[in-house]
Amino acid sequence: MTDKINELLRRVEEFKPKAASDIEEFRIRILGKKGELNALMEEFKTVAPELKRELGQQLNRLKNEATARINALREEWRNAADEQAPADEDLTRPGSAEHLGSRHPISLVKNQIVEVFSRLGYTVAEGPEIEDDWHVFSALNFPPEHPARDMQDTFFIEKNPDILLRTHTSSIQVRTMERQKPPIRVICPGRVFRNEAISYRAHCIFHQIEGLYIDEGVSFADMKQSLLYFAKEVFGEQTRIRMRPSYFPFTEPSAEVDVSCNLCGGKGCAVCKGTGWLEIMGCGMVDPNVLKANDIDPEKYSGFAFGMGVERIAMLKYGVKDLRLYFENDVRFLHQFDEAL
Ligand code: PHE
Repeated sequence: MTDKINELLRRVEEFKPKAASDIEEFRIRILGKKGELNALMEEFKTVAPELKRELGQQLNRLKNEATARINALREEWRNAADEQAPADEDLTRPGSAEHLGSRHPISLVKNQIVEVFSRLGYTVAEGPEIEDDWHVFSALNFPPEHPARDMQDTFFIEKNPDILLRTHTSSIQVRTMERQKPPIRVICPGRVFRNEAISYRAHCIFHQIEGLYIDEGVSFADMKQSLLYFAKEVFGEQTRIRMRPSYFPFTEPSAEVDVSCNLCGGKGCAVCKGTGWLEIMGCGMVDPNVLKANDIDPEKYSGFAFGMGVERIAMLKYGVKDLRLYFENDVRFLHQFDEAL
């Protein structure tokens, strides 16, 4: 039996593969289940007990050496394959690009707006998308017959008209006033829902950012200066703003804010329809009725609120003419905005 073991050892040492596949074949022939080593192991069971010690050691050595040799050969052939590869490949071929994801333009603009206001001391507040009438309308001084409550604008839950999809993130402002006493300075980003026909300028789902600032002695001038700062940060240092009287149930006085057109610099072009101005948000001084409804003393505190559509800001900032592009998730479109890329 010793002869057979030595013979096998010699073959292991002398084995020279001609191809990588020879190694695996050799391994199966020697070390496989039905291989030669196992055959010797079977034979080993029948040898005289006084020979077992000596033969057992020899068999072990054979097994270890065969395993080590096969592993070494595998390694050798793998390295050889690596070295060979460049020879039959075109070294001048450019590497294939990794496809990185990019942030959605709506997220980019939202993050920028949040960042600008956080520099003014605002913190982010969030709230539920499914709301009740109180937080979306009643606490914000909407008269019972206000058209915004109409079925045409608001998605109600059929079984319970008190439950609805929020039409603006002002509901978060109400939730903040419930939890927190003045001074309050929050910025409220979120998805909102309105029952509108989808077109290049409107969608039934879009994103808003609203802000609320309540403290003692907050004035219209504070609001104007904060919004001017915001406009310059987002649209550029040369940007001017103007305010036009408007109406919202929850603010008094109320205004629409326009920025000077960042495309023509205010001279008038197709985007601003020749006016030189672009409407970007609504704002106003918080109506005393809203403060009262939320247990804040209007004699002591005053505040301002503002709200804007993120898609609209993003359209103006990037010169995108169709709002639907933001929802279609065509990566060729989405990929153009992330400055990090
Ligand atoms: N909530 C208003 C809207 O959705 C925007 C707004 C917010 C206006 C705060 C004034 C003050 O249109």
